[in-house]
Parts: sequence; C-alpha cells; structure tokens
Amino acid sequence: MCGIVGYIGKRKAADFLLDGLSKLEYRGYDSAGIAVVEKDGLRVEKCMGRLDALRKKLKGREPVGTVGIGHTRWATHGRPSDSNAHPHSDPTGQFVVVHNGIIENYLTLKEDMLAKGEKFSSDTDTEVAAHLFATYYHGDMEDAVHRVLRTIKGSYSLVFLCKAEPDKIICTKKDNPLVVGLGEGENYIASDIPAIINSTRKTYIMNDGEIAVVTADGVRLTDLEGKSISKKIYEVNWNAEAAEKGGFEHFMLKEIYEQPKAIRETMRGRVEDNRIVFKELDWDREFLARFNKIFIVACGTAYHAGIVGKCYIEQLAGIPVEVDIASEFRYRRPLIDENTLTVLISQSGETSDTLAALREAKRLGSHTVGVTNVVGSAVGREADQVIYTYAGPEIAVASTKAYTTQILVMLMFGIYLGNLNGRLDSVLSEDLVKGLLEVPELIHRQVEDVDQIKVFARKYGSSEDAFFLGRGLDYAVALEGALKLKEISYIHAEAYAAGELKHGTLALIVQGVPVIVLATQEDIYDKTISNIQEVKAREASVIAIGFEGDTELGKYADHVIYIPRTGKYLAPLLSVLPLQLLAYYAALTRGSDVDKPRNLAKSVTVE
Ligand code: M6R
Repeated sequence: MCGIVGYIGKRKAADFLLDGLSKLEYRGYDSAGIAVVEKDGLRVEKCMGRLDALRKKLKGREPVGTVGIGHTRWATHGRPSDSNAHPHSDPTGQFVVVHNGIIENYLTLKEDMLAKGEKFSSDTDTEVAAHLFATYYHGDMEDAVHRVLRTIKGSYSLVFLCKAEPDKIICTKKDNPLVVGLGEGENYIASDIPAIINSTRKTYIMNDGEIAVVTADGVRLTDLEGKSISKKIYEVNWNAEAAEKGGFEHFMLKEIYEQPKAIRETMRGRVEDNRIVFKELDWDREFLARFNKIFIVACGTAYHAGIVGKCYIEQLAGIPVEVDIASEFRYRRPLIDENTLTVLISQSGETSDTLAALREAKRLGSHTVGVTNVVGSAVGREADQVIYTYAGPEIAVASTKAYTTQILVMLMFGIYLGNLNGRLDSVLSEDLVKGLLEVPELIHRQVEDVDQIKVFARKYGSSEDAFFLGRGLDYAVALEGALKLKEISYIHAEAYAAGELKHGTLALIVQGVPVIVLATQEDIYDKTISNIQEVKAREASVIAIGFEGDTELGKYADHVIYIPRTGKYLAPLLSVLPLQLLAYYAALTRGSDVDKPRNLAKSVTVE
C-alpha cells in the first residue's frame, strides 16, 4: 500500500520526508515523490522506481524548504510511471495533494472537469482531488478541504498543501490509516508510525472524519463540520521494527488481520444496487455467449483460489470450467481457441509459469482475463482485461489476504456471469451480494477470538503429519489449509476430497494423527459426518470446522472450531481463517521463520 509522510518545522523537509518514506518501504511501492514549499512556490519532484531513484534525481539540487509532504505509491489507478507518481497538483501547481486509497467517483468527476476543459497529466484518481482543491479554494484552505471531502466518495488518507497558505498542512482520513506526530517546534504526518518514530512517540491516531490542521507550533483537530475536537495523545511504546508490522509479531499475522479491509477494498465500487458490476470488463450477454468453456490457470495458493472459482462459475453461471496448474498448462497443449476464456490468477502478476500460460493462451486465440493484486505487473499489462484485487501489498511468503480477495473476485465473477447469461436465480444473486457485504465484519469477529486455535496449535504442533478433508467447496479450502500448514510449519500435510480417502490414504490414518475436517456444505453434510466417523474409527484426532449453532459436529469430532453461520457459497471466505491461524500458530510452536519459510520465495519469477 502507499505510504504518506508530512513535515512542518525548522529542518529541511526533504531530508525528513525521504527518511520517513524509507521507513515505509516494507509496504511495497513502485514510485515516490515529494512536494516542498520553496520561496518561489511548491516544488514537486517525483519519479517511478525506488526512493534511491528520487534521491539521485534530487542530488545537488535538494529542496531547502521546511514544509513538505511525501508519498510512495503502490499503483491502483494507472500503471506505475513518473506522471502517475504522487504528489499530484492542479494545473497551476499551487495546490498539491498526496493520497492513499481509492476515490470511487473520480471518473464522473473527471469527466465533468474534462468537459470544462481542464487538463490532466496522470491517470490517477488522486489528481481529481487536487483539481477540486484548487476549484474550491477562495482564500480559505480549510474550507476548500471541507468541500473536497463533501464531493469525493471512497476511501482515503489525504494530505493537502497550498501555496497561498504555506505555513500549514491539512490532513484527514476515511478507512485508511493516518497519524499525526507531535514534536517541539515541529510536527509530522504519516500513514504509519515507523515513518515518524525516530522523531516522536507522541501521536494522534486519526479517526475517520477527523481533520488535522498542522502547523509548526501545533495541531488543531476538527470534525467534518469544522467544529474543534479534543483527542487523547497516544504514546507509542513499540520499537521501530515492531512498528513496521503495526504491532504484530509477523507480517503474516498482520495480513491475516487485514483481511476485512482487503475484502472491503476489493468489493469497493463493484457492488451497485445489490448487483455485481465489473466496469473493467463491461461485457454484454452476446460477448459472454462466445465462450463455451473457461480455463482458470494459476500456481500455488492462486491455483487453489481457481478451484474455488470453478465451483462458483459452474454452479452460478452454468459454464464448464477447467482449472490448471500454470506449469502444466503451458506444456500440455491445452485444447483452447477463441471460444475459450482463460482466467489467470496471480497475486504478484509476475509468476513465470502463469505468465507463460497467459502468453500461450493468447497465442491460441483465447480471450484472457488477469486477476492480480499488483497494478502494472506483467499479468496486469499483458492480459486482454484485468480484474484487480485490492488486498494491498502482501509481504509474508505465505499468502493469506491475497487468497481471500482472489476467492472473493471468483465469487463476484461467478455472480456477474450468472447474471449476464441469465442462469443465476435473481433471489439467490441478491442474497449472495447482501451476504458478501457482511463478510468483512464476520471475519473481524473470527480474528478477535483465537485462543482456542492457539491451544490446538500447541497440542498438535509436534505432529509429523496432518490431513485436511472436505467435500465440494470445503475440499477446495482444505487444499489451501494443507498448503498453509506445510509451507510455514513444515508439518507434512495433505488435503483430500473426503470421499476419496478410503481409496488408499486411509492406510495412513492411525491413532492421534490430526485430521482437520471442513463441514460447511449443507447438501453434503451427512456424507462428511460419515467421513469423520471413518477416521475416528482409526483413532485419528479430528478438529472439525463448522457453523455456529451446529449441534451435530461435536458428537463426532474431538474438537470443533465454530465459524459465523453463512451461506454455502460464502463459507470459503470464513472457513479459511481458522486454517490460516492454525498454520501460523503451529509454525510459532515449532519455531520456524514464519514470514520467510525455508526454500520459498514470495514471487517465483523462474521456471
Ligand atoms: O504471485 P502468485 O499468486 O502468482 O504466486 C503463486 C504462488 O507462488 C503462491 O500463491 C504461493 O503458493 C504462496 N506463497 C503460498 O502461500
């Protein structure tokens, strides 16, 4: 995710900004920039690439001003480039903003502005905010900021700088983090504490709808109506390293907890009147009718998301789907042509096998849709069309929030296709969309209470093997649960379709072997119960995952982890949570390096 830093005081702002931004590098970014108040106006310097590229650009001509704002961008609207890098200004260069988040109504606003003859120099949603800021400024910066906030919709941390009032910076937030740091004769702004922790531990953690007017001598806080508010100062008691992880012990845990936000961001702008809209696709019934088959191609966790996607698309839209591992697909001469749609899923968008599969699909004449988390990545650039997941950068090697946003996109895609071709019942469609909107809160509830999972992780953490079972969508999620456990705890783990076990693998089930069984699919629930009995008869230790209110599971399993009750299609978004947490705490028990497991890399760019 993008990073924000602001400084106002007596020091050279550029030094502070560059140093602060470097503390946010762990979040991932593709370009960087700063804006500093200089004698002759606001000086904006920005470029694509790492902070070092920006430092090089500034060498020997560093800004000397003592007020400024800075940004590291992680592209969401518009590919990584010099012009899309922040800060963004109005055409006169007198009004400058930096922004994290997404301005949902930017296209409508931009179209109005273009119609009035305004010129834009980037593809970003943020530039619209800079234009609005200029339009609304009539001698009162605070008033202009209020008007901007009344006009834009979406999620944001926004920081404003204006040439006519060079002794203040104004910042605000909605659904994105922002802190204001308090110093002596200087004050600071940041999207995350590591950027300012070397200068102060006294902060205001900003809430949605709060505005801070920051000068060198003080900080005034108001609400959106301009009424002053008072706020408790929060003393940071973490060290810099812990601060990078937001107080979590590992990035993986932080990313597990970020899932409600990742889901919200990925749904943002794609739900209208209880319907799913993919403006980036904009298909009609006729276009969809071209395709008689869909291929989903990916690797690892993304492949598992593809298996979930197959269930969704086949059941909701009635289109046959094949799921393939990219490294197999690329060499197996798949039977595809211009009547096949190929969907490539990749968090990084740079996985070598997935990219080769994408090229092969295109070569064979297939229409390709990339599903990726990284704007400007190779999959994003080369696929005919792209659906972005907005999980924010994923740093831990073990994928968590990327997976949940991938299966979310698969579900939304299934609903979208089913609506388009008329195969999806309208009541079910509406129920699914309504249910989706509740998912972030349900995940939040789950991660609030992890004590039981910690106990199981300690109890079974020393096991050599573990098995994951499920049927239908539960099987698809079981595959991901087993991968999570093996990649970070190094426990040998396998997932099986529960009905398949008796065809061989049952020979491995002996006393005390942990078997994790997912039981969320009502239509095949009884069958799953029979499979639990099968492994219990061999004295396995069964941990079942079922819905709250289920009174049956406890009769057969040794332990039950209850997840909030929801519909069968939404269940994977919730049932994967305990599996991620189980893997995480089991890895802790065994003392492995959770964020950087042995032999693995975050992005596999070699064959
Ligand atoms: O970036 P991608 O989604 O293409 O990566 C694919 C796999 O390498 C990845 O999902 C891997 O399996 C994860 N580290 C598992 O947690």
